[in-house]
Amino acid sequence: MTGQESAAGGSEHAAASVVFRDVTKRYRGAEADAVEHLSLDVPAGEICVLVGPSGCGKTTAMRMVNRTVEITSGDIEVGGTSVTERSPAQLRREIGYVIQQIGLFPHRTIAQNIATVPALIGWDRERTRARVRELLELISLPADVADRYPAQLSGGQQQRVGVARALAADPPVMLMDEPFGAIDPINRERLQNEFLRLQAEIRKTILFVTHDIDEAIKMGDRIAVLREGGRLAQFATPAELLMDPADDFVEDFVGADRALKRLALMRVSDIDLWEAPLAFAGQDTAEVRAKLAGAEVPWALLVDSDRRPIGWLSDRDLAAATVPHRPDSSPDPVLDRDDVLRDALSDLLQSQTHYAPVVDASGAAVGVLSLDVISDFLASDQAKVEEHPATARPHD
Ligand SMILES: Nc1ncnc2c1ncn2[C@@H]1O[C@H](COP(=O)(O)OP(=O)(O)OP(=O)(O)O)[C@@H](O)[C@H]1O
Ligand SMILES: [Mg+2]
Repeated sequence: MTGQESAAGGSEHAAASVVFRDVTKRYRGAEADAVEHLSLDVPAGEICVLVGPSGCGKTTAMRMVNRTVEITSGDIEVGGTSVTERSPAQLRREIGYVIQQIGLFPHRTIAQNIATVPALIGWDRERTRARVRELLELISLPADVADRYPAQLSGGQQQRVGVARALAADPPVMLMDEPFGAIDPINRERLQNEFLRLQAEIRKTILFVTHDIDEAIKMGDRIAVLREGGRLAQFATPAELLMDPADDFVEDFVGADRALKRLALMRVSDIDLWEAPLAFAGQDTAEVRAKLAGAEVPWALLVDSDRRPIGWLSDRDLAAATVPHRPDSSPDPVLDRDDVLRDALSDLLQSQTHYAPVVDASGAAVGVLSLDVISDFLASDQAKVEEHPATARPHD
């Protein structure tokens, strides 16, 4: 087949890129620019987070995309054409917008709220009703909330309805201004995770505003850090931002614990693991003792015939002539190669041992993670950032 296939997942509108070209905004009567010479290139299907202190121009930058704020100079292109070539009314229909503070219409039902844009563009009742049903399912709300009013929903549920409303006409671009700002931390994390799952399905181009750097790192494919006057301090991926902040402002904003934050972005499989001598039940312990001399990990790991960890061998285990079937200590915690490194670290810290076997999808041991491996990694990372050599010791 050589023809173009239609987009999967019922999404009829492909995502569009958003490009800021040297965009400046000065509000009438203001003495300074709210946004100054901002250039950004957001590829289709990515989440670009705008982050920075209050008043730095995040909302202004976002609102120029759908022309709820007019550009003073420069240009913004959505899907390759200038927003100035479309009317503000048209743009507001084409671009989903989740405003700061949710902004559901209080005297309209949830279904009517979600159907705002479909009603504007004249969808018939059946199509609209089907879309509302589909969106409620997408945001994991029961169908019976459709006839309730916003005040009859929790804050988190209202927030999800706000997202559904912005998605209703399947726009190629979404603007989300502090969409989870008003939610308590626990529900906020749930909504963030839910939204990332949703985005993996719908692949919209999203401009996402927050003043919370942790949220930015979690949600963004790319992050634009803005400073006073809407000036761009750095535009980079989360990892680049954490590893290599462009200046003192970004470094302060990203925070001192960025090495730890970086661990949240990495998987166990991203770092060089150590090797432990492997032992099999019934094997001559003399062989195992010989392998232990000079090994990276000073303990032998008993594995089954599929290399699945059974436990660590103690000195007493190794004093016998042959390796026992059931060793003194369990292998726990056993980590997965796909585990997030920060979670792996907390598992290690909570357990008694310094070493944890790492297994692949089949459960077979592929290496060992230890606190030392992680601190070596952090030290070398620090070395990159601060330009002094690491002095990590492999054994304590
Ligand atoms: N309609 C307006 N008229 C005049 N000045 C405005 C207007 N809206 C915003 N400003 C000013 O422009 C600057 C940027 O405001 P903006 O709302 O874009 O900031 P923000 O980064 O979104 O802040 P916050 O994090 O508090 O939401 C501020 O100095 C603000 O006072
Ligand atoms: Mg704002």
